[in-house]
Amino acid sequence: MKASPIDPKRIDLVLSRHPKGAQGSLVNVLHDLQAEFRYLPKEALAKAAEHLDVPAAHLYGVATFYESFHLKPRGDHVCTVCMGTACHVRGAPRLLEQAERDLEIPSGQTTKDMQFTLEHVNCVGACALGPLVIIDGKYHGNMSPDRLSRVLGKMGKRKGSK
Ligand code: FES
Repeated sequence: MKASPIDPKRIDLVLSRHPKGAQGSLVNVLHDLQAEFRYLPKEALAKAAEHLDVPAAHLYGVATFYESFHLKPRGDHVCTVCMGTACHVRGAPRLLEQAERDLEIPSGQTTKDMQFTLEHVNCVGACALGPLVIIDGKYHGNMSPDRLSRVLGKMGKRKGSK
């Protein structure tokens, strides 16, 4: 299944909250667009560049500079495994492998049904909780592969399920 087509009216609505040509609001505009779509669709970036009167290449440059912006569609749920040093030594690689098995996608990808995005990051500054997995913004500390599998299963995703 592909990501839904982007309704231009939703883009216009977000942009209408920001004055035309307000180049100083560029990052806020990107945040608002991402809040609306969970990523930054190229149609939205093109309209935002026009609205703010900045070159599209500049807008892309900003969008790719910040790790918090995403240029690809994301799933309804986002599972992020911390692979920073402290989490790594406490077993993060096994967590990532478990999630990849359960979701049947490699890290950095989204399931075909757009239900889950799996990703990994380097240290999010909560090392005492490691190994750490963040699911839809909620921190799950001292995670084990079994527990992660159960959490993902409860959310409707286990190897073999559709
Ligand atoms: S290494 Fe995972 S939170 Fe710091």
